[in-house]
This record gives sequence, C-alpha cells and structure tokens, in this order.
Amino acid sequence: MSFHAKMDYAPAQFHRSARKLADVGDAFVYTPENQATFDRLVTHYPPERRKSAILYALYLVQDQQGYISRSSMRYVATQIGCTPAEVEDVVTYYVMFFQKPVGTYVLQVCRTLSCAVNGAERVTEALARELGIGLGETDASGTFTLLEFECLGACDRAPVVMVNNDHWHERITPEGVPAFVQDLRVRGLAALTGCHHKVE
Ligand code: FES
Repeated sequence: MSFHAKMDYAPAQFHRSARKLADVGDAFVYTPENQATFDRLVTHYPPERRKSAILYALYLVQDQQGYISRSSMRYVATQIGCTPAEVEDVVTYYVMFFQKPVGTYVLQVCRTLSCAVNGAERVTEALARELGIGLGETDASGTFTLLEFECLGACDRAPVVMVNNDHWHERITPEGVPAFVQDLRVRGLAALTGCHHKVE
C-alpha cells in the first residue's frame, strides 16, 4: 500500500534508523547534593527558560551514574519541564554524553586531520590490541572504554587522546601505548600529560 502516487511503501523500502535506544537503567533520582546543585543552577535562567539548564542537568546525571539512561532522561525531563523525547534529542546529539555504562577511563582518540596524519589510527589499533576491545567497547574489568573523537583543539601536539571528557594526553605514539595503559592503571589521571593550551 502507498500514500504516495509514485512511491511504493513496501516494508522492505522503509528506511530503518540504526539508532539504538539507551539502556533503561535503574530508577533515577539525583543525590541530595546533585539536586541542590541543580536547584541552584536552574535559577541562572528565567523560569520560562528552565529548559535551558538541560546540559547542566545531564552533566549531573553523567557525573552521578557514569552515563545517561532512559530512566534518567525521564527524570531530567521532569526536572526541566520538557518531554523525554526532547531530552533524548540532546543526549543523542552531543557525543560527550554516554548512553550506556562506560569504563573508569574513557579513552577518546582524536581522528581529525592533524592527528590522522600523525598516526591516530595506529594509536587506536594499538589501544584496541592492548585492551583486547574494539571501538565503542568496554573491557571486561570495566576499566577502559575505547572511542574516537573529532578535533580536540591541540592539533600541534597530535595525536591526542582525551580521557573522561576532561583530561588530555598529547603526542601519544602506537609504541608508547602499552606503557601509557600500564601507567594509567597504576597512577590514574596523574599519568596524563594534560593539555599545554589549558587556561586556568
Ligand atoms: S586534529 Fe586532533 S587535536 Fe586537532
């Protein structure tokens, strides 16, 4: 059957989105501390613009449980006064929001031009080998997740790996990956070079 004179909407011809819904997750509420933080931040906006606090609201969720579940999207929707679908639109648009549980360290290798020509792909391969996981996966111990990212703004120190959305490791090499991973296991974020462009 077709609703269009020249187009046959046979089931096989429907476009099917490859998008997967986020995990439902456990029932979600902010901790009292995060609720207090949200209640303070939301006053930065006029009451009729409460929705503008959505990124703050989502960052608090991710800080609290490590990722944004569907339950927490519904919770954020009630907090800011919009529909869960609107929250999902934001979560799925911004790559810094994780839609399933991730490891303690989320390694995001920049794949844009400067990093690409300086061997980022080899770095990603070396990390995948070292950790025994593929892109988008988390290792069995729940310590590392491996992802790719676009330009991190430190192109003159390529290749760059961002860790947990907040921390940088610059000029990583494929040969240096085993020591980098080991150092991260032992010293945590202190093992990272940081970003030399960082402005305090
Ligand atoms: S291209 Fe990788 S930081 Fe800019």
